[in-house]
Parts: sequence; C-alpha cells; structure tokens
Amino acid sequence: GDASGADSATSSGSDGKAVVAFSQEGLENDWRLENTASIRETLENAGYTVLYQQADEDQARQVEQVQNLLQQKPDILVVEPAEQEAATPIAALAEDAGVPLIVADRALGVGPDSATQYKVLITQNWEQMGTKLGEAAVQLLTKVNGSPKGSIVELVGVLGSAPQVAMDKGFADVLAQYPDIKILDAQDGENKRAPGRQIMEDYLTRYPAGQIDMVWAQNDEMGIGALAAIQDAGRDELVGRIISKDGQVEAIQQVAEGNFATVCTNTPYFGPIILPYVEKILAGESLETATPDKPFTCFESITDAGQKEAKAQYDELTAASAK
Ligand code: AHR
Repeated sequence: GDASGADSATSSGSDGKAVVAFSQEGLENDWRLENTASIRETLENAGYTVLYQQADEDQARQVEQVQNLLQQKPDILVVEPAEQEAATPIAALAEDAGVPLIVADRALGVGPDSATQYKVLITQNWEQMGTKLGEAAVQLLTKVNGSPKGSIVELVGVLGSAPQVAMDKGFADVLAQYPDIKILDAQDGENKRAPGRQIMEDYLTRYPAGQIDMVWAQNDEMGIGALAAIQDAGRDELVGRIISKDGQVEAIQQVAEGNFATVCTNTPYFGPIILPYVEKILAGESLETATPDKPFTCFESITDAGQKEAKAQYDELTAASAK
C-alpha cells in the first residue's frame, strides 16, 4: 500500500497549534509514567495541543477512548496499545476517521505490510530481546548447574501484549535447543511489583528449594517484587538468579550487587523519538513505516567482567541524577 502520508498534511500543522491525540494503555508502573510524561511534555513544549487519555490497561476501554479522541478531530493520533490482537480495531478506526496513526511501544495486530492503516511503528525489537534473555538464561543455568539444564519460573508481562508475545517467542526459540531446560510455571504479574511479589511467594510455596533454578521476569518491577519474596522467604539460592528487562536504575543496581543475573534496557523516553515523526506527518512527508529498532543493552552479573560493567553503569546513572 501507499504509506507515503502525502494526503495527511493539515492546515494547522504549520502554525504549531496542531492537535495530537495520545491514547496510553495504562499507568501501571514508573516506566509507563516516565514514558507518558516524556511524550506529553515533548509534544507540548513543541507547541502541540495534546488530547490525552489512559485506559488503566483495559483494552476495550482504550478502544472506546480512541473513538472519543477521534471524534475531537485531532491532526494525529499516537497510540500505545495494551494488547496486540485485541487492539487491532484501533487501526481501522483511525483510518476511517482519516487521522494518521503513530503506533508506539507495543505493536497492534496489523503488520507493517498492511500499514496503510498506520504511518509508523516505533518500538523495541522484543523478539531479539527475548533471544538475548534466553541466551542469558542458558549461560546462568550452565554456570549454576554445570551444564545447560534446569527449571525456570516466569513472571509474564501482560499476556497478549506485543512484548509478551514476541519476547516469549525469542526466548522459546533459544530454549528449543536445550531439552533439559524447561519453564516450570508462568503466571501474569501485570508488569507490576506487588503482583510479581505475590506470584513469586506462591511459586516458593509450591516449589521447594531445588525445584526452581531461576526466575524470568518480563519486567524489572516484577523482578524486584520477586527478589523481595525470595529474600523474605530466605530462599538465598535464588538470589542472583533473576533476569528481566527495562533497565530501571533500581534494577541496574540489583545487577551491580549481584542480586539480578541480567537486565536488558528499554528506554521509556519516547517523546524525542516520536516528535520528528509527528512533524514529518504534518508536513506531508513520506515515512518508512518501521523505525530502526530502538537500541538496547543487556547488563549481567553472571561473569565478573559483566558485573563490573553493571557497577560502572550504576555509578554513572546515579552520578548523572545527582547533578
Ligand atoms: O511495553 C513495555 C513494557 O510496559 C515495559 O517493559 C513495562 O515496564 C511496561 O509496563
């Protein structure tokens, strides 16, 4: 299809008063709060009027909110979907309303091939991150068990969301090569700390020492909750056996201290990434539908050299925030 955007120039684009509607899937944790603030502040500082709604992680509510936002005839719609397949109607709603759509952070169930329905998808390469974390799991299990074998408990980061779907695929593809590694249990911890902790408490009760070898938390918040449960229960064998993603300062600190084995970063600061696309769309310029993948780095404490790097990163982050 033609995703050139040539039909999307608006008269309000040039005077800096264009209206950007922003539908956020929820405010489940600090990552999402930072992400939301970055987008709203960047757009507002650039002179745009931002119509904003958040849906408390309820996909049906988000679809309704998008309908409501579109009725206000914005110049652009930015959406961070809750789920992947269930968010798909949003693309058709925007297309029917003639409002150019930017999809950010999580994909919806329309592929870039059929992307006449959205202008650009700005996201992480979740599958690749799942692969990296799968490789980290293999490395960790090999270190603690002498060969690549063992049982993983998983804290799922919202079943049906794009990061969950794609990370689990990348992770499973790695594990497929190691028949002696298995996922013992997987429960949805909603990307939040308290549910992550509760689920881990439940795992620790159901699986006595020796039955769990490591924890795969699909975000830092759940990993930090899990670490608290592990420490409270005195299950010291699992300290240092948690892997997660986001790279919050608190999680980098856990890697530096050896309490997490691996963390892959995932910047929440989308405002500066989205702004140029908003400007190009309003100027009627053509776009690539997929941005280059956002870069990410993984820090680890599985090796001494890795832990040293994590310490250096933590020092750098804390020095920067002290300024
Ligand atoms: O979609 C990105 C994920 O959503 C972040 O990793 C997580 O912390 C947030 O809840």
